[in-house]
Amino acid sequence: MESPFKSDILKGKVVLLTGGGSGIGFGLSTQFGKHGASIAIMGRRKSVLDSAVSALQSLGIPAVGFQGDVRKQEDAKRVVESTIQHFGKLDILVNAAAGNFLVSPEDLSPNGFRTVLDIDSVGTFTMCHEALKYLKKGGPGRDSSTGGLILNISATLHYTAYWYQIHVSAAKAAVDAVTRNLALEWGSDYDIRVNGIAPGPIGDTTGMSKLSPDEISGNSEEREPLYKIGEKWDIAMAALYLASDAGKYVNGTTLVVDGGLWLSRPRRFPKEAVKQLSRAVEKRSRVAPVGVPTSKL
Ligand code: COA
Repeated sequence: MESPFKSDILKGKVVLLTGGGSGIGFGLSTQFGKHGASIAIMGRRKSVLDSAVSALQSLGIPAVGFQGDVRKQEDAKRVVESTIQHFGKLDILVNAAAGNFLVSPEDLSPNGFRTVLDIDSVGTFTMCHEALKYLKKGGPGRDSSTGGLILNISATLHYTAYWYQIHVSAAKAAVDAVTRNLALEWGSDYDIRVNGIAPGPIGDTTGMSKLSPDEISGNSEEREPLYKIGEKWDIAMAALYLASDAGKYVNGTTLVVDGGLWLSRPRRFPKEAVKQLSRAVEKRSRVAPVGVPTSKL
């Protein structure tokens, strides 16, 4: 689908994306690049980085890949500094790297829990921490009045609770807290906007194949009202809105992009039954209210 945004809305911007070589992260790299940005991507696997970079370059997008693990502070520092060396500045940091697998709490070791928090929550904070000096107003490559932007990819699992996702729910709750607290503190002190996006199920991603493997996925469309599989494009368009001037007054928000799925509840009664019964039940409750004491006189 064509983008509704002009192709130069991110002209001259430099974007660093963790996890930017695959899945939602690669969708963001591609659309940011198509709208004028230069792209640096960070990931653990060289082969994934190499093919992502050549795919971007074949679209005419200035792109570079840096191998690294967001769990290692020295990698975070090196990749941020390499981005500056390569492109001269940093305008937007996207934290899209994440870890996930299905597991019940009793089968999850504390180290498994910690591993996902390390990637999603601590990794997000570490990248923000290392990027601060370049994103803040007056930082290298920036003018003295305008700061950059941070975009954290989150989820909706932790708004309620979700089966087999205790580790990810905890991790994404922490990511949202990082988004809000940095929005307050770094928005005030350094003019950096910090926002998040909480995607629903997005097709053709590792997340989707891990959380909804064919062997056990069943028919979610029948179970959950509002269940629709989104596209990477949907997340990228939300990101473009937040990253462009269109979003200049948005700070500290995590935008849910899931077709309303997180609000889904099973329908308790058929609509026809409600139509037929509701007035009758109302009448009955007025004639004989439940819980009103009967007179002893
Ligand atoms: N069920 C239960 N525990 C699991 C598990 C599973 N499916 N997969 C990993 N673990 C546990 C391991 O047993 C280990 O705990 P232990 O030391 O107590 O045994 C811990 O998690 C770390 O696993 P390890 O394989 O050493 O970590 P890793 O750093 O190589 O990989 C993961 C990290 C597990 C998050 C891996 O899935 C990953 O790299 N994911 C990135 C891609 C991804 O998930 N994308 C989807 C994003 S939505």
